[in-house]
Amino acid sequence: MEVFRELAGLRAALAAAAGEGREVALVPTMGALHAGHIALIEAARRPGACVVASIFVNPRQFGAGEDLSRYPRKELSDIAMLNEAGCDLVWLPPVEAMYPAGFATSIAVGGVSEGLDGAARPGHFDGVATVVAKLFNQVQPARAYFGEKDFQQLAVIRRLVADLDFAVEIVGVPTQRDDDGLALSSRNVYLDEEQRAKAVALPRALGQAARAIAGGTAPDAALAEARATLTAAGFDVDYVELVDAGSLLPDPPADRRRQLLAAARLGSTRLIDNLAVSPTI
Ligand code: PAF
Repeated sequence: MEVFRELAGLRAALAAAAGEGREVALVPTMGALHAGHIALIEAARRPGACVVASIFVNPRQFGAGEDLSRYPRKELSDIAMLNEAGCDLVWLPPVEAMYPAGFATSIAVGGVSEGLDGAARPGHFDGVATVVAKLFNQVQPARAYFGEKDFQQLAVIRRLVADLDFAVEIVGVPTQRDDDGLALSSRNVYLDEEQRAKAVALPRALGQAARAIAGGTAPDAALAEARATLTAAGFDVDYVELVDAGSLLPDPPADRRRQLLAAARLGSTRLIDNLAVSPTI
């Protein structure tokens, strides 16, 4: 596995891979890797693929007062994990390579980026779309892999790719969970023991709401119940919503693919999760 901190070196390695007829598969990350990221690498490792992982804590997707300065950084163990997982190339750009002096472009994806986390974290998805577009131009992958845990982010990236004609296939990979159901996230390390024990209320509340809605309970009642459960468990709830899984619009009819999305805080740690509502039951 080779690690690059300069674009010229990365591009030379990518050209060599293309010369061998290998298709480039990109796994963009912000580091602090866990089994969820490794599942992305494993999904990307198809025969003949050259798997590139990027590690870049993107300042443009953090709002004022968010956790940019304390976001976990674990470069050495990340590189070891990527090597072990069979990654081929690691792209570790310094901030100046991504945002040199004078950088003035921002990509705003409309529609799917506007509600939910887009409303709770103004500018967040502009930062995501801008850095992902830049990574696509740098790496020029045939496929790129993103976790379904960041369900709205995945929708934003699919919209970005469709609207701007990026020649990349976007592959969503199912959320990886701890044994008790908590979705894996780099931010879980912020939770102390007591908060970690409480955190399981998030996937449980979503599971209960999904079963209730699939079983015929009015969505508003199920959502109110989920919010109340989370509040009682010690969360500050940002939102628990039922949306159309494609458009992310609220109040989806029952014959559409429906997804529950939630964001809630335990202390200063903001957790997100989502769950499909089964069309039958
Ligand atoms: O999901 C993430 O880790 C980040 O939002 C991404 C896609 C790497 C962009 O910085």
